[in-house]
Amino acid sequence: YRNQGQDRDNSMGINLANDNELRALADHMNAAGSGDWTAIPLVPGASAVGDSIAVTNPADRREVVGHWKAADSATVERALANAVAAQPGWDATPVDVRAKALERAATLLEERMPDFMAMCTKEAGKTIPDGIAEVREAVDFLRYYAHEARKHFVVEQLPGPTGEANSLQLAGRGVFACISPWNFPLAIFIGQIAAALAAGNSVIAKPAEQTNLVGYAAVKLMHEAGVPVDVLQFVPGDGATVGAALTADPRVAGVCFTGSTDTARLINRALAARDAGPIATLIAETGGQNAMIADSSSLPEQVVKDAMGSAFTSAGQRCSAARVLLVQEDIADKVISMLAGAMAELKVGNPGLLSTDVGPVIDNDAKCLLDDHATRMSSASAKHIATAQMDADDTAHGNFFAPVAWELASIDQLTRENFGPALHVIRWKADELDHVVDTINATGFGLTLGIHSRIDATIERIVSRAKVGNIYVNRNQIGAVVGVQPFGGQGLSGTGPKAGGPHYLPRFATEKTVTVNT
Ligand code: NAD
Ligand code: ALA
Repeated sequence: YRNQGQDRDNSMGINLANDNELRALADHMNAAGSGDWTAIPLVPGASAVGDSIAVTNPADRREVVGHWKAADSATVERALANAVAAQPGWDATPVDVRAKALERAATLLEERMPDFMAMCTKEAGKTIPDGIAEVREAVDFLRYYAHEARKHFVVEQLPGPTGEANSLQLAGRGVFACISPWNFPLAIFIGQIAAALAAGNSVIAKPAEQTNLVGYAAVKLMHEAGVPVDVLQFVPGDGATVGAALTADPRVAGVCFTGSTDTARLINRALAARDAGPIATLIAETGGQNAMIADSSSLPEQVVKDAMGSAFTSAGQRCSAARVLLVQEDIADKVISMLAGAMAELKVGNPGLLSTDVGPVIDNDAKCLLDDHATRMSSASAKHIATAQMDADDTAHGNFFAPVAWELASIDQLTRENFGPALHVIRWKADELDHVVDTINATGFGLTLGIHSRIDATIERIVSRAKVGNIYVNRNQIGAVVGVQPFGGQGLSGTGPKAGGPHYLPRFATEKTVTVNT
């Protein structure tokens, strides 16, 4: 669709209300080659790779959906050497040629949406609406950064005294390591790569360990679209080995990272500890302790709908997801009782069925962390509000964690990001609004914030006081759209540049001023 004042389109996706489109999608997804999917390093000239590792479906661990092989240290070394050699040529390639390759990739991705959706469902547990959103966002990133590159990568003439010509231009920084999470195995993976390539860098892409199959298929598609194989290389492997080797290497000029705050700190330290090579740039998008504030003028039905959508969509595995709902006491009882009622209606189970609201969490480790949190909540005198029902037959063999809500006395009871469908409700009194915002700021995270109020002065007051990257008023707080809601946080939530925003690409580039005595 085209938004007002926008000179480009966002991807249309698939209309699930149209029976023909839906049937074609279901047939195509069922026919996709689950079981045969593979991922191996895509590094020209490298040969040795390790053991074959099975990938299982998070919704049913008995189902093997594919296999992958990690890059060994010789492969990482070869990838770095290739990337250094290839970068100057790619940087010198006219920006329009680079942009066209990204646009071709966008078109191919749209044509193959059901294949990629099938992979997102079987490897990452994505529901069908999430799978559509995932592919659309990846397509949008490709087109948006192509569009932005054409705008930014031009020689800009600057004013100067008579007899002198001044200009400013952007160029690639060199080799970028793009290190991504499993929760957006296509959108964030492709978004990082597209931005780094658009800016004239060569890229070594390291996907999360859990989602190599989607990453491999995406890189193959980028090559098919015209990105040279030595300019974009695929280097799967563990974060602690392959990821750490990349970030420690002085040939890497920049790291684009999305993942946990703890890993961002490790990467920051690794870059700082290098005693050779350039001072590397780090673009980090990390976790959140996201809150939604509802005052007594808000509509309880809408608060509950938007809080649940923000907390439980994608099984709560979004950095943007609402973790805390802070409700003014006058409407708190009503909101809590409606929340419990609505949670009883949630359908948890097979993400490949349209009727499913909440799919599995990514793996058993993620489930164990959430179970630990539930145990902590019961001993921290949190008051249980509701737990969604799960059908034992549908969920017995998968990594399922039932959406749950507790009432807490204070946000301080949450000491870390709980990455799953867990919502915490806190009541506040009429004179506590500033204090509420201060307690949210005091978590140190600053990613998304939801506000529900019909009082403009209250909304403005919260907006000006809150230290967060993305604020959503009277709606849900997830699903930022590329070019429409530039996305990224501050503080513990990231270094700031906003993915899908107009200031993102220059962060991947260096600036060169040229002064000519005429
Ligand atoms: P993670 O930090 O465990 O892993 C992310 C990536 O870092 C993976 O590819 C991993 O292999 C790699 N890695 C791990 N250790 C490394 C090291 N020492 N050196 C280099 N690379 C290393 O995160 P995750 O579990 O994959 O993803 C979930 C997290 O991501 C959550 O905290 C979530 O909030 C965050 N996230 C943030 C955003 C955002 O835009 N702010 C978006 C999505 C996810
Ligand atoms: N960009 C993703 C969202 O807004 C993380 O939900």
